Amino acid sequence: SNVESGSVKWSSPSNIALVKYWGKRKNQIPENPSISFTLSNCKTITEVTYTKKTSSEFSFDVFFEGEKNEAFKPKIQTFFERIESYVPFLRDYHFNIETSNTFPHSSGIASSASGMSALALCLMSIEEDLGVDYADDYFNRKASFLARLGSGSACRSIEGELVVWGKNRSTESSDLFGVRFDGDIHSNFKDYQDAILLVDKGEKQVSSTLGHKLMYGHPFAKERFSQAHDNLGKLKDILSSGDLKEFIKIVESEALTLHAMMMTSMPYFILMKPNTLEIINRIWKFREENNSNICFTLDAGANVHVLFPKAEESKVYDFIKSELVAYCQKGHYICDSVGNGAK
Ligand code: PMV
Repeated sequence: SNVESGSVKWSSPSNIALVKYWGKRKNQIPENPSISFTLSNCKTITEVTYTKKTSSEFSFDVFFEGEKNEAFKPKIQTFFERIESYVPFLRDYHFNIETSNTFPHSSGIASSASGMSALALCLMSIEEDLGVDYADDYFNRKASFLARLGSGSACRSIEGELVVWGKNRSTESSDLFGVRFDGDIHSNFKDYQDAILLVDKGEKQVSSTLGHKLMYGHPFAKERFSQAHDNLGKLKDILSSGDLKEFIKIVESEALTLHAMMMTSMPYFILMKPNTLEIINRIWKFREENNSNICFTLDAGANVHVLFPKAEESKVYDFIKSELVAYCQKGHYICDSVGNGAK
């Protein structure tokens, strides 16, 4: 291309899995299908300025929240190596990558999904600047395909409100990219809320790279992968019928199963903290006593995502403020809800 320079910008959200991705094969192919709510407030905003260069090496600088950042470079270098055959201009330009998150740094919230999807989208926009014209749905699919090669779950952050990734018998999907859930969604699940309780803001105890590896030769791997298929099928029906009680069963069981896999791998890990369990028990008690549809889910860490219908917003936030904040590090939590994907 004879384009000398330019600049593109994307904002891309995080997502929270309802059926969890845990275990992968070569080339970031998931061992089981997963489905997630796209979030709205937890986002990464990335601006990439590109300038033509002559050397053939990859060349990029990363600025995180205004400051030059070396720590992210190896991840991006690996990402570039994985995607280079799909992004032909990668060696022709120098990239200045300026990135920031809407959620607090080191909050224990994984920024890989929002970060890698934002970067993938920027590369797609650069490709368009350089003269390639993609139809909207193809643009999104390729962005998701690239994001997957950065971080598996990142491929579920391009669109909203529910995204499926991984071949399965219940929904239209692919192992190579995430697609919008194609089933009916009952109004009970419109504008679903997610309060993220920050129990432990420290560095992740187990990287997801190691976590996925621990599913190789895991004694329960086969059962787990097949359970994920079943749960996705059940969830599809639940999303259409609006059955919140059944929704809760699948979502909480998925979270606990993810942690059970880590507790039963070799080496084994306990990623929950005492406060994680306090919160879970209080959520169960509140649900029982208030005839509520509040539930929890977890990622590969101690923080708790509290999920609830929009209709319960004020009573659940009262409960969080009066009871659950006490178990959050420095009383910190983030209010989020289901969103529409990257912009
Ligand atoms: O995208 P990765 O490789 O960091 O995997 C993350 C997996 C979980 O967050 C634990 C579950 C999921 O499906 O998002």
